[in-house]
Amino acid sequence: MTEQDPKDALRALEVEALDAIDRAQDPEALEAVRIDYLGRKDGRISAILRGLGSMSPERRPAVGQEANRVKEVVADALQNRERSLAGPASSGIEDLTLPGRGPWKGGLHPVTQAVDEIWHIFRDLGFTRARGPEADTEWYNFEALNTPLDHPAADEQDTLYLVDSVLLRSHTSPVQMRTMETHEPPIRIIAPGWVYRRDTYDATHTPAFMQVEGLVIDEGVTFVDFKATLAEFARRYWGPDTQTRFRPSFFPFTEPSAEVDVKRVITRPDGSKEETDWLEIMGAGMVDPAVLENAGYDAERYTGFAFGMGPARIAMLKHGVDDLRTFFENDVRFLDQFV
Ligand code: DAH
Repeated sequence: MTEQDPKDALRALEVEALDAIDRAQDPEALEAVRIDYLGRKDGRISAILRGLGSMSPERRPAVGQEANRVKEVVADALQNRERSLAGPASSGIEDLTLPGRGPWKGGLHPVTQAVDEIWHIFRDLGFTRARGPEADTEWYNFEALNTPLDHPAADEQDTLYLVDSVLLRSHTSPVQMRTMETHEPPIRIIAPGWVYRRDTYDATHTPAFMQVEGLVIDEGVTFVDFKATLAEFARRYWGPDTQTRFRPSFFPFTEPSAEVDVKRVITRPDGSKEETDWLEIMGAGMVDPAVLENAGYDAERYTGFAFGMGPARIAMLKHGVDDLRTFFENDVRFLDQFV
């Protein structure tokens, strides 16, 4: 039988001792473990240390070093165990005063949150929710909205066609026509949904994105109603100090058309206030009479306004996100910030 290497014996003793320390449930049991391994007279680790003297001078330093290391590890473990047995956590659980590991919490995607906030504001203003198909015809996506098919927007360069004259809607505006066809005024709807464009994926474009469409039609709806409603939306979304600006623009389905900008007031961490630049938040306008006629409405009797916005853009402005792609990558380290 070959003699066991004292270093292997020490490592085996270390494992055994740490296990015994772990299993000791009270100070007396722990003291017994201490005596068994480190006791001056008969302690098993002490015995090895004592035997060093009779060892060959070549082996002595290595074994001595290992024996001292094991002795220290075991002494430390004894001390820690003694503390945890004496402390309030004497239930066998290591330390009840440590903070718990919280349950992992999921949340809605920041763009979904923006859609919900926008929808809830308009719901409170008396709007209902509407929807339409994501695959739609050229008629609903363009022609009914007073957009001739030779308009650049209808070009295959920009629009994803499925088959002849059927396409993935390039905006949520077709829901305007689908709602008007099936409902009589008064109409007050919000229509969030996915839209698709032949765009290259970059920091400000994705080939699929959300839009939120709005439409109001009734007798006697004026430009004042239009401006007041959208200014009220902006104040409810961005805060009561928010200013709104209507910049003249062009959309085929509205006349006059506007791009709506907001100027926000931000409170700095030190409490001081700061105005942002003007930020564009949506396209909008008074519904073109040609669109009302396409819906079969009497354009002499009814007027209205419409608007369309990108909730991802609005979420970017709100949270200071500068790359749209982060909303699509679904990295939980990014998404966790919005929970
Ligand atoms: N459909 C337009 C777009 O995708 C946005 C828009 C502009 C919607 C004006 C409207 C509107 O309802 O009135 O760029």
